[in-house]
Amino acid sequence: MKIGIIVGTRPEIIKMAPVIRECQKRNIPFFIIHSNQHYSKEMDSIFFEELHLPAPHYNLGVGSGLHGNQTGNFLIKMEPILLEEKPDVVLVQGDTNTVLAGALAASKLNIKVGHIEAGLRSYDRSMPEETNRIMTDHISEYLFAVGPNQEKILKGEGIANNKIHTVGNTVSDSLFQHLEISAQKSKILTHLNLTAGEYFLVTAHRASNVDVSSNLMELLHLLDEMHKNYTGTIVWPIHPRTQSKLKEFNIELPDYLQLIAPVGYLDFIQLQKHAKLILTDSGGIQEEACLLGIPSLTLRENTERPEAVEVGASELVGRDAVKAVKAAKQWLSRDDYSWENPFGDGHVAKYILDVIVKDLTKKDMEQ
Ligand code: UD1
Ligand code: UDP
Repeated sequence: MKIGIIVGTRPEIIKMAPVIRECQKRNIPFFIIHSNQHYSKEMDSIFFEELHLPAPHYNLGVGSGLHGNQTGNFLIKMEPILLEEKPDVVLVQGDTNTVLAGALAASKLNIKVGHIEAGLRSYDRSMPEETNRIMTDHISEYLFAVGPNQEKILKGEGIANNKIHTVGNTVSDSLFQHLEISAQKSKILTHLNLTAGEYFLVTAHRASNVDVSSNLMELLHLLDEMHKNYTGTIVWPIHPRTQSKLKEFNIELPDYLQLIAPVGYLDFIQLQKHAKLILTDSGGIQEEACLLGIPSLTLRENTERPEAVEVGASELVGRDAVKAVKAAKQWLSRDDYSWENPFGDGHVAKYILDVIVKDLTKKDMEQ
């Protein structure tokens, strides 16, 4: 048995880490292909170091580019590796261009694809990730759905029941495995001169929010209104995409925004855990905020992760400043909040490997 594991971006490294560790624990032969879709130290190697992951066996060195060019180059470079390695299954996680290319490269070679985080739908086809999710789900053999919502969506799209495995999200494994160590090691609050429970944490990198200057200005107006109403610090670890757009559009930021470079996972967990409120358009942060018990405002018109809203941990505000200020007021007037955790029990990688090992062993015995 051999497993090919494909990663490319920050969230894939973080969410695939528990699966890699589970393979190591069980002595299952595996290899890692890194597309290098993300390559800056703070978006890439810092996570391999902090999460104690083995170095990728293959670095494709593709980097940034237009969608077709980037996805095409991933495909071209993945194919010979898969032909040489002949894995029994290729695992991809999430909805990036790396995921689509990995799934397609494997599927064309008749290698089984396992899609971790299957069945998410925003129903917004202008979002590049939505295409990646749908395509990947429909060429996968193992669909690892997060919960009942995703299971229902996949069945509704005609995917055979026996391909769908509802297991939770490996985001929970990673978070629970690193909470304590992050509390011990991270000094980020002291370093940034922040007081626990007294700052807002912001992240934004969706193309719909940052690639169009008027949309980015709307987002900044929302932050301005938040600042006018609630004062206090707004910390913003800035994604490189957003950084480059601010520069391209010549936008100067107000002083009350504490802009910092992207931080490592251990620091980011602490930043989330001690925030008064999180404002984000990130997929993973919608999940982590919910798991950590911190309320969030989702800076999107729609979400493929409705669970955080359903359990009462988040509100969809888009770039609407009025909605954001109103939602924040409601959160901040409460002393206490709690909700169910819809994102996994912290043992998701184990469930995923149980499914794969059982299925591949059965197939071996049948041959
Ligand atoms: C990608 C994914 C998105 C995911 C996000 C996680 C797609 C279509 N998008 O978006 O789903 O939520 O990763 O963060 O797959 N850049 C750097 N250094 C890096 C990486 C990027 O400077 O290490 C800059 C480059 O200017 C690049 C831009 O960021 O052009 C965008 O990078 P790209 O990987 O294309 O998309 P993301 O916005 O990161
Ligand atoms: N993250 C991090 N440092 C940061 C910002 C985010 O370690 O400065 C982590 C965060 O904890 C989460 C993941 O990166 O696990 C989310 O990545 P991102 O928002 O880039 O992508 P998305 O989840 O939207 O695809």
